[in-house]
Amino acid sequence: MVKIRPATFADAAPLAALAERTFRDTFADENSQEDMNIHCANNYSSEIQLRELSDPLRVTILAEVDESLAGFAQLLLRSATHCLSSNSPSELNRLYVLREWHGRRVAHELMNAVLSTAAQRKSEHVWLGVWERNPKAIAFYRKFGFAVIGEHSFVLGTEPQRDLVMSVQINAPSTAA
Ligand SMILES: CC(C)(COP(=O)(O)OP(=O)(O)OC[C@H]1O[C@@H](n2cnc3c(N)ncnc32)[C@H](O)[C@@H]1OP(=O)(O)O)[C@@H](O)C(=O)NCCC(=O)NCCS
Repeated sequence: MVKIRPATFADAAPLAALAERTFRDTFADENSQEDMNIHCANNYSSEIQLRELSDPLRVTILAEVDESLAGFAQLLLRSATHCLSSNSPSELNRLYVLREWHGRRVAHELMNAVLSTAAQRKSEHVWLGVWERNPKAIAFYRKFGFAVIGEHSFVLGTEPQRDLVMSVQINAPSTAA
C-alpha cells in the first residue's frame, strides 16, 4: 500500500539520493554526462535538501511503499510564471517516482496530495514545466486536467531546453462547517 506523508528534516539524505537517482534514470539517456553531473551537483545533496525542507514556501511530499521511499513531489507555494495570470499560483517543481513503481498508483497518490495541499494552501492554480521530450509525464499531467499554456527555457547543466508550461485550476475546498 502506498503511504503519503510530508517530508521531515530526517528525510534529507534519503530524499537527496532518491531525487538524484530518479533524475538520472529519467534523463541520462538523452543528455550528456557532464550536464547531468552539473545539474545533480547543483540540486541534490543532504545539505541542499535540508535547506529546501527548511523553506516554508516549499512543500515536499513523500510516497512510501513497505516503508521504502518510492517517489516524491515538491510544490513551491506562491511561485509565478509569465505564462499564467493567477492571484495565487503554485508550482509543481518536481514529481519523480522510481521506475519499478511507474503505473502502480504511486504517482497518482502523490499528485492527489499535491493538488489537495495546493487547495488547502489557497492556491488558485498549479503549474509546472515539463521537457517537451517527456511524453509520458505530459500524458500523466493531462490525466489530472493540466493543459499546455506556454513554454519556457530550462537549463540542464549547460544545455538550454524547451519546457512546456502546463497548468490546472484548483477547486477551493469546501469551507462549510
Ligand atoms: C511522470 C510520472 C510521475 C508518471 O507516473 P506513472 O505512474 O508512470 O504514470 P501513469 O502510468 O499513471 O501514466 C502515464 C501515462 O503516460 C502514458 N505513456 C507512457 N509512455 C508514453 C509515451 N512514450 N508517450 C505518450 N504517453 C505515454 C501511459 O500510457 C499513461 O497513460 P494512460 O493511463 O492513459 O495509459 C512517472 O512516469 C515518473 O516518475 N517519471 C520519471 C520522472 C519524470 O519524468 N517526472 C516528471 C518531470 S516533469
